Amino acid sequence: MSAIRIDGNVLAEKVRGRIATDVAALKARGITPGLAVILLGDSPASQVYVRNKVAACGKVGMHSVLHKLPAETTETELLALINSLNVDPTIHGILVQLPLPKHIHEKQVLEAVAANKDVDGFHAENVGALMIGEPRFVSCTPAGCMEMLKDIGMADLRGKHAVVVGRSNIVGKPMAMLLLHANATVTICHSGTADLAAMCRQADILVAAVGKPRFITADMVKPGAVVIDVGINRLPESEGGKLVGDVDFGAVNEVAGYLTPVPGGVGPMTITMLLQNTLTAANRQ
Ligand code: GUN
Repeated sequence: MSAIRIDGNVLAEKVRGRIATDVAALKARGITPGLAVILLGDSPASQVYVRNKVAACGKVGMHSVLHKLPAETTETELLALINSLNVDPTIHGILVQLPLPKHIHEKQVLEAVAANKDVDGFHAENVGALMIGEPRFVSCTPAGCMEMLKDIGMADLRGKHAVVVGRSNIVGKPMAMLLLHANATVTICHSGTADLAAMCRQADILVAAVGKPRFITADMVKPGAVVIDVGINRLPESEGGKLVGDVDFGAVNEVAGYLTPVPGGVGPMTITMLLQNTLTAANRQ
């Protein structure tokens, strides 16, 4: 039997409807939630992501500004822009698209964003708040994954074993923390994990965030498990050039109980959580 598909587009539409209603209510009080997006350089993938983020703001009635800067922009110039946005009353959320060019210190830049405008949840203050179980702004992709679990009736994960493959600051680590707060028993696997397949097979909830196309194969999945695919990988032209996740969808579909597709799974939920965080930021400010 095939897995039940968790449709990110359908869920995103539902949540964005609620966000649009809340945005309208704020606007009636004279406040339009505003998001500033900063992109350095011309990476085609990043350009698509920021375009989608800006377009999503418009659709729920939010104000957004895209600052597209050349890859050669200096760190000083970037920090000056961030500082000006930090004190701009029309901007409630600031997002610096990653990855940044090599000459820029990512940590310095992420820490320069005012914590109360850090809608990406990357500032150490927000990461720390999540760690102690008092989340303020949570990284959008893991937050979106949790919404997907809630939507299939898995808000409380007591007694469940969740395995996260990948330990990035953007996804793996905050994801593990959110799963823990939902009472799951959590394992984080990474490139140094011995017998990864055996670890993954223990998972009632398997989150793949490794950035390797079709890395999670059917033999790594417990029958009936919930599999959440965070990967977005472009295959080389010689292999068709299409977008695939970190999960071998066709084969895992025959083993898993629930599965998120790529595209149309976690991606739309990431953007939805960005909108949610921007709305929250506007409400707080
Ligand atoms: N690059 C890949 N994912 C993200 C994200 O969630 N936020 C930002 N700012 N950059 C990213």
